[in-house]
Amino acid sequence: MEQAAKKAKEDTPLTTTTTARVASPPVSSLADVASATGIVRPSDHGALSYGSYLQLDKLLKCQKLESERVFGETAHDEMLFITIHQTYELWFKQILFELDDVRSLFSAEYLEEQLMLKVVARLDRINEILKLLVQQMAIIETMTPLDFLKFRNLLAPASGFQSVQFRLLENKLGMLPHRRRTYQRKGYKDALNPEELKLVEKSEQEDSLFRWLERTPGLDDETFNFWERLKANVAADTKRRLAEAEKLPETHRQKQIDSVNEEHRKFQSMFDDKLYEKRQKGGNVRLSHRAMQGALLIMFYRDQPRMHLPFKMLSLLMDVDKHMLQWRINHLAMVQRMLGTRMGTGGSSGYHYLKETTSDDYKVFLDLFNLSTFLVPPHILPELSQRTREVLQSSIHF
Ligand code: HEM
Repeated sequence: MEQAAKKAKEDTPLTTTTTARVASPPVSSLADVASATGIVRPSDHGALSYGSYLQLDKLLKCQKLESERVFGETAHDEMLFITIHQTYELWFKQILFELDDVRSLFSAEYLEEQLMLKVVARLDRINEILKLLVQQMAIIETMTPLDFLKFRNLLAPASGFQSVQFRLLENKLGMLPHRRRTYQRKGYKDALNPEELKLVEKSEQEDSLFRWLERTPGLDDETFNFWERLKANVAADTKRRLAEAEKLPETHRQKQIDSVNEEHRKFQSMFDDKLYEKRQKGGNVRLSHRAMQGALLIMFYRDQPRMHLPFKMLSLLMDVDKHMLQWRINHLAMVQRMLGTRMGTGGSSGYHYLKETTSDDYKVFLDLFNLSTFLVPPHILPELSQRTREVLQSSIHF
């Protein structure tokens, strides 16, 4: 970008720009200002300039105020309202660009290990953008509800419901359609036109990011036998803790026994194939049993060189969920302040509908958060076999 600007500066003689300024018509809008100052105008020689490269002549003319069109008078805050939505959409576009790249890397039969750094870098960038989007909600909050009312009624039936990019983002991350809330007996896709609908439906069908966990190295290593040994170690530890609980004074004993048994029950629902399958069918867990084992293996052995990036990736996926939730919460709080319990322009109950979208059903990587239930202290962890240690320290693809 800087280079392009520098090149444009070098290529464009100063006199050309000066002439363009003098010849410009009187300015009446932001786009005209940019154009009149010579920032936007492509060089007469066709060389790239800051403005032509960024197509600012088009971009800065995209803020059309409904208040001006309908009332012939500017509702001052409508400019902010448009700008903020447009910047959100631009950032959504960038996030989708990064996400599509990650998904295409994962769609290969094998993910070359050196590409993991790329995956992690993309996810890191997505998170940085999301953090900005969370913060950005504060800017729209500088508009008072009364100022919003000066133009709000002009907006219906347009609504955030029609943000196709937001829906693509949710779906490409892996949002499950049946976990979404409805409004007025309508589904989230009812607000879309046929072309948008096609795109969004396609994004519902695409592969999720979860599959690669099933390929975690070390899972198939019989010399290590991670899963069976973990089960055995946890069972032995439960027995030991129950024996210790028996020795406690009566006042504390039962409580401790109940707590150990409860933990044991949870572990069983993870270790037992049939119980796990039942939880999966009931929608309580989403990762396949094998992917769950892969994720746990990554968590436990994150110190091993080959696990560093997969571990970072799991953390970044949870961060994505966290930032999406923070965005929903900030949007919700802002909506309550602006509208109280008024209905949304898209026909939902507004605040009450949006509040539902902050529930765990909207967390895509909930299973990863819940993995912490099954973490155990280091002395219970199966020790790596010599061969697994070598595998986790070598670098082939997985
Ligand atoms: C004054 C500012 C805003 C108000 C009062 C507002 C209000 C609402 C309401 C009431 C809904 C529920 C749907 C409906 O019935 O219309 C909604 C949904 C939505 N809004 Fe906003 N919004 C505002 C700003 C924003 C901004 C800046 C964005 C950024 C892109 C945004 C994106 C969305 C999205 C994506 C949804 C769909 C959420 C979902 O269904 O999970 N909104 N908004």
